[in-house]
Amino acid sequence: MSNLKKILLNKNPCKSIWFMRQAGRYLPEFQNIRSKNKDFIKLCLNSELSSEITLQPIKRFDLDSAIIFSDILMVPYALGQNVKFTKGLGPKLSDFNLKEFLKNKENNFSNKLSPIYKAIDITRRKLVKDKSLISFIGAPWTLIVYMLNIKEKKEEINLQKLDNSKELIDQIIATLINFLCIHIKNQINAGADVVQIFDSWAGLVPDENLNDFCFTPNEKILHFCKQQKIPAICFPKGIKEKYEDFNKIVKPDGINLDSEIDPVWAKKNLKNVVIQGGLNPNILLKEDEDIIEGATKYIQTFQGTPYVFNLGHGLLPETDPDKVSKLINFYRNFDG
Ligand code: CP3
Repeated sequence: MSNLKKILLNKNPCKSIWFMRQAGRYLPEFQNIRSKNKDFIKLCLNSELSSEITLQPIKRFDLDSAIIFSDILMVPYALGQNVKFTKGLGPKLSDFNLKEFLKNKENNFSNKLSPIYKAIDITRRKLVKDKSLISFIGAPWTLIVYMLNIKEKKEEINLQKLDNSKELIDQIIATLINFLCIHIKNQINAGADVVQIFDSWAGLVPDENLNDFCFTPNEKILHFCKQQKIPAICFPKGIKEKYEDFNKIVKPDGINLDSEIDPVWAKKNLKNVVIQGGLNPNILLKEDEDIIEGATKYIQTFQGTPYVFNLGHGLLPETDPDKVSKLINFYRNFDG
């Protein structure tokens, strides 16, 4: 059993470290591959290259877990929406069509994503046994933000768009849950051993919709994972003190803190769950002393408890890999 799976299932307090967005973005060896592969979706569907990129941070830093190189938007892609990544602008999806969306069939969906499953298979064979291979999905709400193009500015949503479409969103969520569970199961069957559920835009859900758009969909997916004995880590980014309700309702095996959450508060209020992450990724752009000070706070707070070292969001594209290496060494050599 992988180190991460042991921590999640047996609450084993051994050390474990990996980073969100560790594959891609900031690594020169990734940029080299990316510069020769202009179409991002095609790159995600190239099983050999996806596996190679997944293993790049493992080779460089010997991290405890690998996360498969893919994207949360591969699901809307497989469900019929065109997905385009333009530098500086973020992802752009073609207009959503409910009628077409509801016509999707399981077989076709799994076939379209089969290169991802092949990449997982290739990677699992190359990865030593005690390292986890993490699969992932975007939670329904976060996918819908992109699918319906709800987010107009950087951190803001069009509430009116939302008011007029509550029923539509409920309908999309129900269908998405079905396909997301299939995608989780396919990834686990291919050789992944943990799933991380990114609800990166949970913080944009209006309070009155938090149950319907965030808690309940995550809970339903967790229910499926428990039935299938798949360890799952949730990341409801930006919901502040509602992390406590989220944890009580959804009951994930692991919960990733965002950088706004005070680790001392989390230790006191998030029960029966393995805590992961929290350190602000911006700290890696600062001096070594700042990095060490920031990391120490998390390591000391969670000492003796099953804590997985990670960040409060993904590694930033401008991160210097040497700083990542220093942080890993510091964490590994820390003995109180
Ligand atoms: O962790 C990893 O490195 C594995 C691969 C991974 C990617 N995206 C590759 C990627 C993972 C786990 C994701 C998750 C993802 N994708 C999330 C949830 C996590 C988070 O950061 O909040 C979200 C919201 C997306 C959607 C997405 N994909 C956006 C907003 C963008 C553009 C900006 C960016 O780089 O984040 C992407 C593109 C993307 N996904 C890139 C990579 C390496 C950059 C593509 C490029 O090189 O242009």
